[in-house]
Amino acid sequence: MCGIVGYLGTKDAFPILIKGLHRLEYRGYDSAGVALVDNNGNLNVYKTKGKVANLENYCKDKDISGCVGIAHTRWATHGEPSDVNAHPHFSQSKNIALIHNGIIENYLTLKKFLISKGYEFRSETDTEVLVQLIEFMMKEHKLSLYDAVYQALTQVVGAYAIGVIEKGNPDLLITARTSSPLIVGLGEGEYFLGSDASPIVEYTKNVIYPEDRQVIKIERGKEIEIRSLDNEDLIKPEVKEIELSLDDIEKGGFPHFMLKEIFEQPKSLALCMNGRVQKEQKEIILSGVRDHIEKFAKARRILITACGTSWHAGLIGKYLFETLCRIPVEVEVASEFRYRNPVIFSDDILIAISQSGETADTLAAMELAKAQGAFIYGVCNVVGSSVARLTDSGTYTHAGPEIGVASTKAFTTQVCVLTMTALAVAKELKTISEEEYKRIVTELCHIEEKIGKILEKTSEIESMSKIFTYARNFLYLGRGFNYPVAMEGALKLKEISYIHAEGYPAAEMKHGPIALIDEEMPIIVVAPRYALYNKILSNVQEVKARKGRIIAIVTEGDTEIKKQADCVIEIPETEECLSPLLTVIPLQLLSYYIAIAKGKDVDQPRNLAKSVTVE
Ligand code: AGP
Ligand code: GLU
Repeated sequence: MCGIVGYLGTKDAFPILIKGLHRLEYRGYDSAGVALVDNNGNLNVYKTKGKVANLENYCKDKDISGCVGIAHTRWATHGEPSDVNAHPHFSQSKNIALIHNGIIENYLTLKKFLISKGYEFRSETDTEVLVQLIEFMMKEHKLSLYDAVYQALTQVVGAYAIGVIEKGNPDLLITARTSSPLIVGLGEGEYFLGSDASPIVEYTKNVIYPEDRQVIKIERGKEIEIRSLDNEDLIKPEVKEIELSLDDIEKGGFPHFMLKEIFEQPKSLALCMNGRVQKEQKEIILSGVRDHIEKFAKARRILITACGTSWHAGLIGKYLFETLCRIPVEVEVASEFRYRNPVIFSDDILIAISQSGETADTLAAMELAKAQGAFIYGVCNVVGSSVARLTDSGTYTHAGPEIGVASTKAFTTQVCVLTMTALAVAKELKTISEEEYKRIVTELCHIEEKIGKILEKTSEIESMSKIFTYARNFLYLGRGFNYPVAMEGALKLKEISYIHAEGYPAAEMKHGPIALIDEEMPIIVVAPRYALYNKILSNVQEVKARKGRIIAIVTEGDTEIKKQADCVIEIPETEECLSPLLTVIPLQLLSYYIAIAKGKDVDQPRNLAKSVTVE
């Protein structure tokens, strides 16, 4: 949710900032803006509603000189997307410019106070309060910019990653964070800020991941200074190396990141299993489980919490852990879990799933469970993210950066991690036989090649998608392990094509949604051949009797459902517990091509942002 970029060095800041904004645009695209201090000390701010390309156009005839600057791409929380609400925001005197990712929760109180002191507000944002408060601190208490930022932040409640620069000072860049992501890149005589590593990786691999409540002074020619809001002592920076490469964050010849990421799934699953699934020995070694196996052995329950697609992966996790490990599992969206005073026992395990590792609701749910003594296990993609830092143990998905807003490879790698975890626990607890364990592990080793086979059907799925662009509603049906897949398929379609879709347990259809079915209505049935196959076949017939149009995802060689369906997509045979890793692939492709046929912007769908760092 919102991307921030900053630069202080010897090069022109503008091109670096704009490139950084393009890389972060997946995080928000309501508006974009940049602030620069030129070598004469002038502070110039340019900002426009819409995407980064608009900003570039707008700046064509502007003075964009300066070797220090900050830039922002917004996902609005307070105030509509507009030029005036775009960041950077100026202080009253226009001497300070600030960018912000997050929410200042007590902004109304602070605003009232500042208005009483004669400050006038130009925007409707919460952010403007902070830049005005910084100016107030500077004037009222005769503070330097750094000290004023520090003091202002002691008054702030909420989440923030900020960048601040000041008129007349081309040698200074201040940054700070609490609960919003921030990385500081350290180059040769130059510094970079980014909401993630993508704006930085081209220039340096050395970075600092600031902790919550740290305020950082970056001054030309001097050592970086870090202090915590809790204690004014200098903190020694811990320099880490980023693993990301430039190739990881570029489209590599695909028209969209989403398609690239769908096609990357065999590779990302291979990386996810690398060193963990031992093909020869048919074994799974997960250090996160091995080192804490007694927690799993004694667990009263597993609670799984997450949002969106990650929550759907969690729902599959319930089927996995209950089937394979016989441990009771509850799955809940983090935004509900965190506010309903849930009953949590100290022998519960909470599994938090998050691609970004920065989702505010998921983090809050984790904190709640941690405070009540549960053991926190993380399933996360972004190394070093807030989710990863809050866990007692966990497993990275290693999907590589996911940039398309609609999650694809993150989902399959999350399901893969949950599968490996459940198998590793089941083996220890002896809740499945050695034979079953080895059979599933062997089959897991073939999943990448089976996904490859489904991807070969892309042009078939593309042609199919064109038939259904007329539809205003879709129903997705599935059972057992594939019920959450139906929900995930529906979410993918909603997100990028703006067609209303619902994922439903197939047998539950007759209790309501069946009323929606007519000859116009496409119904996607996820129906691979397992124990409930005959039941789902009856559900298909119920749809057919009402003239619904059926698109079925079936196991290779299926004959029965084929007779009823208008279109079928075959998937290779596999173990039932692994089938979501295959059945979801055609649904991703179908959503992608329906959205393309409707002319939608699949990588940056309206109103969404890749990582939701506010509640
Ligand atoms: C997926 O397509 C979505 N854009 C969204 O639901 C996402 O899965 C959700 O916001 C959770 O994000 P996280 O995995 O980064 O926590
Ligand atoms: N709350 C701020 C705003 O609405 C920042 C949102 C963001 O993180 O993009 O402008």
